[in-house]
Amino acid sequence: MVMISSLSPFVMVIFGATGDLTARKLVPALFHLYTQKILPEKFLIIGMARRPFTHDEFRTLVKQAVGPVHQLDTLDQLNQFVENIFYQQGMFEDDRAYEEIVKTLKSFDEKMGACITRFFYLATPPANYATILTKLESSKLSEGCGQGSIKWTRLLIEKPFGKDLETAKMLEEKLSGIFAEKQIYRIDHYLAKETLQNILYFRFANGLFEPMLDKAHIDHVQISLLEGNGIDRRAKFYEGVGALRDTAQNHLMAMLAYIAMEEPQGLGSDAIRSQRVKVLRSIILTPEEKMDETVIRGQYTSAVIDGKEILGYRQEKGVDPASTTETFVSFKLLLSAKRWEGVPFYLRTGKRMSTSQARIDIQFKNPQNSLFKQIQPAGNSLANILSIRVQPREGISLRFYAKKPGLSLALTPVDMDFSYLRSFKKDIDDSYEKLLLDSMLGDQTLFATAAGFKATWEFATPILRHWEKNSDSLKFYPAGTNGSKESDILLAKDGREWTE
Ligand code: BG6
Repeated sequence: MVMISSLSPFVMVIFGATGDLTARKLVPALFHLYTQKILPEKFLIIGMARRPFTHDEFRTLVKQAVGPVHQLDTLDQLNQFVENIFYQQGMFEDDRAYEEIVKTLKSFDEKMGACITRFFYLATPPANYATILTKLESSKLSEGCGQGSIKWTRLLIEKPFGKDLETAKMLEEKLSGIFAEKQIYRIDHYLAKETLQNILYFRFANGLFEPMLDKAHIDHVQISLLEGNGIDRRAKFYEGVGALRDTAQNHLMAMLAYIAMEEPQGLGSDAIRSQRVKVLRSIILTPEEKMDETVIRGQYTSAVIDGKEILGYRQEKGVDPASTTETFVSFKLLLSAKRWEGVPFYLRTGKRMSTSQARIDIQFKNPQNSLFKQIQPAGNSLANILSIRVQPREGISLRFYAKKPGLSLALTPVDMDFSYLRSFKKDIDDSYEKLLLDSMLGDQTLFATAAGFKATWEFATPILRHWEKNSDSLKFYPAGTNGSKESDILLAKDGREWTE
């Protein structure tokens, strides 16, 4: 079947085009959409960054980002794809670079005989956002096609969205002074992960689990985003950002929003987004005196793993040797929403963990009866656990207890398991494909909202302020472990432990 794209021609200007995000996520996603003929026939991608490259040198970078291609027809497609790609060298504050982009876009419009929709993708460190936004406005690029209309431009902007509540507000003010809300696509790519989107379907299309997801049945919920890798070559980005801003204030909160939200009134963008925001607004803020008890921050130190020396965070290239940036954070929070009153949510995220996985574990309360007390495995509760494996081994499993076959009476935990790979026999597409496509279709459902970010900054900002005043709250953990012992104590104090 030959697919014909239903998308109109577009232009995308990627700021920060030689950075990690462009290479790891944007280029592969765009190329994959291209090979599936989802992108329209005519489009133009301009990469802008500081380093001096010719168009051809940049195209070579793009090809490297796509990775090795073995099939001849895919190779042909790659060669055709890069013909649509151009490079614009410039500092982000450099008017000349924007003027050049204006000219390139104008001549593309002329060639096409129409005003072509323009996407501006901010894939730079957040410190550059204000400058780029100012220049987009002063060069009138933000207005699109030169006739003062704003409807032909869209802005895609990556988290972290500000550094705290105050700077997030400033950024919002700046954005709303230039773009209308329907033009702004705030990216937290976890919102678009297939396995997280599926939570809505899993919960509300099946009668079995939803009635059980409340304070009467749930003991607690764990949300983890653990990464085995360190900061790779991203020291410049990561220093001063840290785990709370990089992956907790957004990605962990995206997982929280999906698992705790009420049923939306429909599948429309506003209905779903407003239910997600309600969850985030219902987070009970941590009082200052409880901060050290309920929020743990850590930084990895060197370790030898499988005979290989792994550097500590402070020894990484580009990191201040006295850095107090956290590479791990775990915390407990409660929601004021009626459904979840009193149910603790434990969240954790970090780099150089023992494993790479993102998951949500919902632990049910123990059964009330004492029928099996005698044969229950020592130290083991009989709690059922519903686990949503966001990645890898994407799927959902339910742990329950069964009689161990045999002549004696014994109980043993077993799993009912749904695996995407087994059921659908295909790999899951990267969330960036969905985000790029939805931005082109004008669908904002899977994009973050200003209100949601505001709510999560309201939670995170007092924590950041507390850490600024209390450097000894930073605890250390050897690379290859899941955070400092304080993180285990956080749960142990409540008689619980992290699900591994
Ligand atoms: C990004 C963070 O937003 O998410 C990275 O900046 C992190 O530090 C990444 O590694 C994790 O995303 P994924 O999709 O690889 O789990």
